[in-house]
Amino acid sequence: MISQKTIQEIFETAKIEDVVGDFVNLRRRGVNLIGVCPFHNEKTPSFTVSPSKNIYKCFGCGAGGNSVNFLMEHENLTYPEALRQLAQKFNIEIEETVDTTEQLEERQRMDSLYLINDFAQKWFTKQLFETDEGKSVGLSYFKQRGFREETIKKFGLGYAPKTKDEFTVQAQHKGYKKELLIEAGLTSKRGFDFFRSRVQFAIRNGSGKVVGFGGRILDSKAKTAKYINTPDSEVYNKSKILYGIYFAKKTIRQEDNCLLVEGYTDVVSLSQSGIENVVASSGTSLTIDQIRLIKRHTENITMLFDGDPAGIKAALRGLDLILEQGLNVRIVLLPEKEDPDSYLTKVGTQAFKQFIADNASDFILFKTNLLLEETKGDPVKKSALIQDIVQSISKIFDPIKRSVFIKECAERLEINEQILVAATNKIMQTEIAKRRQKEIAKEVQEQAPIPESELGEIPKRNRGTQAISDDFQEKDIVRLLVAFADHELEPEVSVARYILSNMEEIMNEFDNDLYKKMIEIVAERLQKNLAMPNTFFTTHEDKEIRKTAIDLLSSKHEYSPNWEEKHESFMHTQPMPDQNWKKDTINGVDRFKFKKVIRLEKQNQEKLKALGKEDVISLMKILKVQKKLQEIRIELGTRIGTVGAIK
Ligand code: CTP
Ligand code: MN
Repeated sequence: MISQKTIQEIFETAKIEDVVGDFVNLRRRGVNLIGVCPFHNEKTPSFTVSPSKNIYKCFGCGAGGNSVNFLMEHENLTYPEALRQLAQKFNIEIEETVDTTEQLEERQRMDSLYLINDFAQKWFTKQLFETDEGKSVGLSYFKQRGFREETIKKFGLGYAPKTKDEFTVQAQHKGYKKELLIEAGLTSKRGFDFFRSRVQFAIRNGSGKVVGFGGRILDSKAKTAKYINTPDSEVYNKSKILYGIYFAKKTIRQEDNCLLVEGYTDVVSLSQSGIENVVASSGTSLTIDQIRLIKRHTENITMLFDGDPAGIKAALRGLDLILEQGLNVRIVLLPEKEDPDSYLTKVGTQAFKQFIADNASDFILFKTNLLLEETKGDPVKKSALIQDIVQSISKIFDPIKRSVFIKECAERLEINEQILVAATNKIMQTEIAKRRQKEIAKEVQEQAPIPESELGEIPKRNRGTQAISDDFQEKDIVRLLVAFADHELEPEVSVARYILSNMEEIMNEFDNDLYKKMIEIVAERLQKNLAMPNTFFTTHEDKEIRKTAIDLLSSKHEYSPNWEEKHESFMHTQPMPDQNWKKDTINGVDRFKFKKVIRLEKQNQEKLKALGKEDVISLMKILKVQKKLQEIRIELGTRIGTVGAIK
């Protein structure tokens, strides 16, 4: 265990800005530093680091704490792990209160996995430099590829000998348990070494710990895969790791650009030549997690592609994902049959850098040109291409950037700019609507059903999911009243008036008493012709009403800065669409009524069932009501885009 004295020292020494700064690109703002939050997906920085208080706090997602908390959360470490990592970073000697042999047993599984991977890396490197087989097969291969010794050591390259189980035997001899070796992917279930006759690339996570390996076979005639990788484990998740990120992150931040290549050897080779802001996706297409990993350090990615057309097209497919994350993507196509490593070796560092500078072209323009080549003179293909490009453009969040692209693409595609603008906006609006729908669905889901035991005397209609989803519609109505009551939908018709005139007949259908009360208050004020500013409810004397109003105003469905931004983003390229609250009001009322009509229909049906056959007059009445309700439901359903028949 780490002594109290050491813990104290770690807390005193570990400056929050240094700790966070290893992972997040921070900029000074006043007395604080600010950056893009690593704990949630955001576009504008709201992650704040306070050097004076030695804490971090994200105003977007609420994450916050001290240096140790940061590492624990960010690197998925336990408390002692985080302390140890900080001690190492700040050169603090750890005073242990229990001796290390016992500790090996005590440590968490994760920690053991790191240890075993570290051991394995050292072992493979040792084989490479100190055994005959390693030297003659592995080391000579690396040297022939131009890797210098210091590079090999820095990247922890190594050699796995061809014997069946030498590594496994020696590791066990050192006290590492077989289950652990299997868990780490270093040993097969049958007890053999997982990596045999391969040169080894140690794969590190963002904080430099070895978490896995890539092993390359040297015999080109061998029937196994050229590369094999550590299977996923608790510490190694292929889709969340970028090869080289630990060594690259500092330079990525300095250059404000990340070079992305495909292979391990490309990373090692470029890095050795002084091009250090380079990482590899290890042969697979980029995942969201990997993109986010890059985004912690820069918003600019330059992808280097081998120059074969099939590969490029496949790679292009995943790229909208990067745009969606708000990153700028540039593409460099290498000459045919070259990969970054081979081309660099061929032309040298200077020429290589120059080639990148000269050939980096923006992704969207690159894509436009590439596809344009293929569609020459074919109008059907061309319109598909336009759709494709528009799709990509619509992923760009920044309205100014977007309009620049639209202009450029319109020229290249030889079509009217306004057509592109309209097509882009259409996609964006659909996307926003979709996202909103999802949010709403999520909100409904998140409202846990009331347990039977707590239902007590609550009337039947409040039970089950029906009541829960209605609550959302009711809440939305009240939200609109709280925020926009006095806004005019059209001359003389305020939001409040519109809502209330539509509510009259169904006021009794309100389930939530507080909401009902708030609506009645609005009704009263309207009758007296009193104003309804949006501060009315947030400063109301009733504490419960006040709190509800504040919650509603700060809820994610509110016209939040984010929302405004989304809508503002249309403005630069097209006359602004109706402001959100107008549509929201009309939709909100429709949705509310829709829900209530469905309920009334159900109640009416119950009545019908309960009815004796001989009561013809009542039967006629009920059927008439039923028909009317059905008509209303279908009409509302069409307006809110839900098929009328759905119940
Ligand atoms: N890869 C893999 N499994 C394979 C082939 C490739 O995981 N069977 C991954 C490796 O991460 C590799 C990358 O895809 O680094 C790119 O593959 P490739 O271009 O074939 O390898 P290079 O790294 O260029 O290796 P070399 O130059 O030694 O051929
Ligand atoms: Mn290669």
